[in-house]
Amino acid sequence: TPPILRRLDDLRALRRDWMKKGETLGLVPTMGALHAGHLSLVEAAKAACDHVVVTIFVNPKQFNSPEDLANYPRTEHEDAQKLSPYGVDAIYVPDPDQIYPEGYATTVSLTGVTDVMEGPNRPGHFEGVATVVAKLFLQSGADRAFFGEKDYQQLMVVRRMARDLDIPIEVIGCPTVREASGLAMSSRNMRLSPAATRTAGQLNPLMEAAATRLRAGEDYAPLEAEMRAQLSDLGFAEIEYIDLRCAQDLTSLDRLDRPARMFVAAWLDGVRLIDNIAV
Ligand code: PAJ
Repeated sequence: TPPILRRLDDLRALRRDWMKKGETLGLVPTMGALHAGHLSLVEAAKAACDHVVVTIFVNPKQFNSPEDLANYPRTEHEDAQKLSPYGVDAIYVPDPDQIYPEGYATTVSLTGVTDVMEGPNRPGHFEGVATVVAKLFLQSGADRAFFGEKDYQQLMVVRRMARDLDIPIEVIGCPTVREASGLAMSSRNMRLSPAATRTAGQLNPLMEAAATRLRAGEDYAPLEAEMRAQLSDLGFAEIEYIDLRCAQDLTSLDRLDRPARMFVAAWLDGVRLIDNIAV
């Protein structure tokens, strides 16, 4: 299994050696409980960079519910095993004080891209994400960082943050990896009962069907109403949003007049599911 680094100094020492030789570093930030979605980012990083570091840090600042933080799976040993065939150089699992030392007081906060969808629905979430990702970018000095389109809004937030703060890193988005049903892979899926897993598998096909009809020229508003009704019939308890948005800046669209994405967030079986697709 790849070496595990728990101290920033050790990560910096590695980076310094590679820098001297003119070799590039790709970073794959995660919170662990690795699945095929994470591993696809590792593959993309391996293909594009001389060296790859995967980070595992369950970032307390980005959880807006203490139960969610407490229930988040922690599987470091299994994660290291899963990474062993990929030839990554190291796994950075920082001790908490390496990220938030005593007296830590700085938050990175954005406007605009954080004002919609996950922003208002998960207060403090994107501040936590932007803060930890800014730190991981600066700590690693990586040339490229790999993020999943599964969390499309997060990808936009991280890209904006790196540009705004002049962090010289290329943020690369990678396609969502799905189960055979279409269900987007997520560490939270393991909390679904078998019956709820089958129901969850209907979300993505339903979105794809709506996207097909949009492309054929149907109006969005009635389609959205239809999707809401279908999702509640299936047993989705609370639908936080169903949105059609510009793929570039996430502004709301009511017709398909530019590259767009459709976004859904809904609760099923006590689990919050999100998905998005290109339209
Ligand atoms: P985590 O949920 O562990 O996800 C780590 C990375 O894997 C993110 O870029 C996420 O978009 C990507 N990912 C998750 N499921 C995926 C799937 N099914 N297909 C493709 N990519 C997928 O996102 C986070 O952690 C955190 O917010 C983090 C960025 C690490 C900051 O703490």
